[in-house]
Amino acid sequence: MNDPSVREDWLATPGAALAGEVRVPGDKSVSHRAVMLGALAEGSTRVRGFLEGEDTRATARVFEQLGVHIDTPSPSERVVQGVGLHGLRGAGYALDCGNAGTGMRLLAGVLAGQGFDSVLVGDASLSSRPMRRVTDPLIAMGADIQADPGGLPPLRIGGGRTLHGIDYALPVASAQVKSALLLAGLYARGETVVREPHPTRDYTERMLAAFGWPVDSAPGIARLHGGHCLRATEIEVPADFSSAAFFLVAACIVPGSELLLEAVGMNPRRTGLLHALRAMGADIGEENLREHGGEPVADLRVRYAPLQGIELPAALVPDMIDEVPALFVAAACARGRTVIRGAAELRVKESDRIAGMAAGLRALGVAIEETPDGAVIDGGRIKGGEVDSRGDHRIAMSFAVAAQVASGAVRVRDVANVATSFPGFVPVATAAGLAVAAADTNA
Ligand code: S3P
Repeated sequence: MNDPSVREDWLATPGAALAGEVRVPGDKSVSHRAVMLGALAEGSTRVRGFLEGEDTRATARVFEQLGVHIDTPSPSERVVQGVGLHGLRGAGYALDCGNAGTGMRLLAGVLAGQGFDSVLVGDASLSSRPMRRVTDPLIAMGADIQADPGGLPPLRIGGGRTLHGIDYALPVASAQVKSALLLAGLYARGETVVREPHPTRDYTERMLAAFGWPVDSAPGIARLHGGHCLRATEIEVPADFSSAAFFLVAACIVPGSELLLEAVGMNPRRTGLLHALRAMGADIGEENLREHGGEPVADLRVRYAPLQGIELPAALVPDMIDEVPALFVAAACARGRTVIRGAAELRVKESDRIAGMAAGLRALGVAIEETPDGAVIDGGRIKGGEVDSRGDHRIAMSFAVAAQVASGAVRVRDVANVATSFPGFVPVATAAGLAVAAADTNA
């Protein structure tokens, strides 16, 4: 877990052309869900390619605290001894989700259906993130959940409630909320139907089906009935497209680069950045398309190409919700203007990512105007300077990339949170040609 008293900075400087092959760690969304469904299944589930990040480890720890035995036969591998749908035991103390919104929101759905009381807590960032979007519909299903004023964590979840299915139209496109309702739906009487304003990542639906639970889903809608059981299976976690995104953008903007990103998860609900970068003129090829555990994966070959600003179609945003910070950097390096709209959800992520990216790019001399739901970015030269990641992993990695084409060194403040999604970012980045290293925080 992040210790807020330990501060880490990076010093990133203009680097070499990117070259070689990179394999980024396992997908965060898939890793969370693999542990959760493995825990609720009958039998033992082997998970390969598990993300050894703080977020996903926090979720695994919570299930251990709920009585689930989880073995780690080797790094990035877990064997989850499932206890069945009704086999969890109350911990008797607060369960710490760390920095993970996915962990807390999906767990709220699972715990709403248990016979015992639970309390979910998180770090300072998670404690300021909106939870009503998930508690309101869960309460409508019959759950007993109390949040702090403003709908903030901790979440106090009363056990022993009878849940009933719901037909719910999500006000905002959110895979976390959809997944929380589907997981509560496992415990509910009748049918749970979730309708989305725009289709979001469908890992919960796909994985429930892989565990043998009948799910009826199509882009924008998912429905299931309670009363079945989950059967253990094997999960192979693809490399996380969101982590690959930083290398995609870096290779696009650093002249002379050619990089191969291996076995990247290509779920269409995650790959919006590919479409955006290609519309900007990027040269990205998909090779060796195949399936890993039911998920499409490909090796991505990316070569430097001059980028051109675009008007990002708002409909693309949900398919690249975690990649918009990286797109800010591509836009800052592109010729002409990029307009990003329809991305207001970025304001309630691990930090307000629109404000954080705008402040950082401005500090590096980029002409950027923040709007309520996005930004207008005029591409141009990036200079050296100091930026604050605001303790947000994706902002930190975005600025490590931006620094590769800056005219001077960039200090990125407060980067410890990168360990939530991409442990080992610095060595992987350095091997690919990025110049980024830990820096003296007192400088
Ligand atoms: C996630 C869904 C997205 C995403 C997050 C992971 C998931 O959040 O930003 O990093 O695993 O379901 P929202 O559902 O809040 O958009």
